[in-house]
Amino acid sequence: MPTSLGLAPSMLLTGLNGAREETDKLFSVIRGSSIYERPVPQRHRLIFYLGHLEAFDWNQIACKLSAKRFHPAFDKLFEAGIDPDSGSLPSDVPSDWPSLEEVHAYCQRVRGEVDALLPHIDSHIAGTAIEHRLMHAETLAYLMHNMPLEQKSAPALGPMPISTASQETPIIVPAGKATLGRKRGGSFGWDNEFDEHAVDVSSFCIDRHKVTNGQYLEFVRDGAPPPHFWVQGKKGWNYRGMFSLTPLPLNSPVYVTQKEASDYADWAGKQLPTEAQYHRAAYGTHSGDEREYPWGSAEMHHSHGNFGFQYWDPISVNANPAGDSAFGVSQMMGNGWEWTKTIFSPFPGFTPDSNYSGYSANFFDGEHYVMKGASPRTAPCFLRRSFRNWFRADYPYVYATFRCIEN
Ligand SMILES: [Fe+2]
Repeated sequence: MPTSLGLAPSMLLTGLNGAREETDKLFSVIRGSSIYERPVPQRHRLIFYLGHLEAFDWNQIACKLSAKRFHPAFDKLFEAGIDPDSGSLPSDVPSDWPSLEEVHAYCQRVRGEVDALLPHIDSHIAGTAIEHRLMHAETLAYLMHNMPLEQKSAPALGPMPISTASQETPIIVPAGKATLGRKRGGSFGWDNEFDEHAVDVSSFCIDRHKVTNGQYLEFVRDGAPPPHFWVQGKKGWNYRGMFSLTPLPLNSPVYVTQKEASDYADWAGKQLPTEAQYHRAAYGTHSGDEREYPWGSAEMHHSHGNFGFQYWDPISVNANPAGDSAFGVSQMMGNGWEWTKTIFSPFPGFTPDSNYSGYSANFFDGEHYVMKGASPRTAPCFLRRSFRNWFRADYPYVYATFRCIEN
């Protein structure tokens, strides 16, 4: 699995084409006019994203090199997504959007022009374009997960690992240092990943595995509302997968909002970890050194975790012992992002990216929480230690899991 973006000029096109392949595959799942649907009320209709991925590259790459705009109206229409609070949802209708033919023609022309300009762009801008597209490969999957099954055609699906019962033995993580962020001057990173700094973390106890559907079911039986990914069937709860409805997989992690994760932790008499505690449990070691990945520095492999587009849905919480951290904490990377109780805010030394100033700064509003790790649909490049993800506490569509800690 490639672990980093090949940013040498000769590799840029390969990197960009690899990312395009992932997003093209997603759009090919959408049936006919369903591309004009809005599966998630807080987001644009899917047709927006078809244009957005190319408009972003055009605005970021071509326009930076003074290319002449050939469709300024689309450059603007497809420029940026939305993240409203639930009180100000979008109200546009399908006929407000251009035809699929017009959007396809725009996309094709942008790709041609961007490809011709690639030898002239700097690697930071190329990294921005490639990672932006790969992030959408995941967030588009969230939106499409929420579409009725008949609006999607499933690609060929491989067998999922067989579920077995997990043993829930909490793990004591000794006090130590957690290094968050990263040094400037290396490979591509987003503005919120800088600067590197160390945080002292006291000893705490953490769940070995992510909280499962089976464990969360006890909470629901005690009166909690069911998570968004559950559907009540005649014989009990079902899991609403990307392409099918299945009886609730009791040993898979439960996908929940940050609020639900936090409520569960309260109910269990525990807490969610902070971002620093996540780092300590995932990367810390008994010797005091810190690892590159939870499993060490070996090249990432599907045995380490459920990430990198192998599956569309979660697998059992104990399916990846090869990916355990030095302290024995399982699946810190993959099978669903993990919620923390840390509000998304800048690290010391933060400066907004001069090419994309709103990427992080627009979300430092006290309403978004940090998620760490990776989901089944997370591209390998985001498995780097410093990568941070964030969402609102009540946004229910994300592939987000959690585990609890006790101080
Ligand atoms: Fe975007």
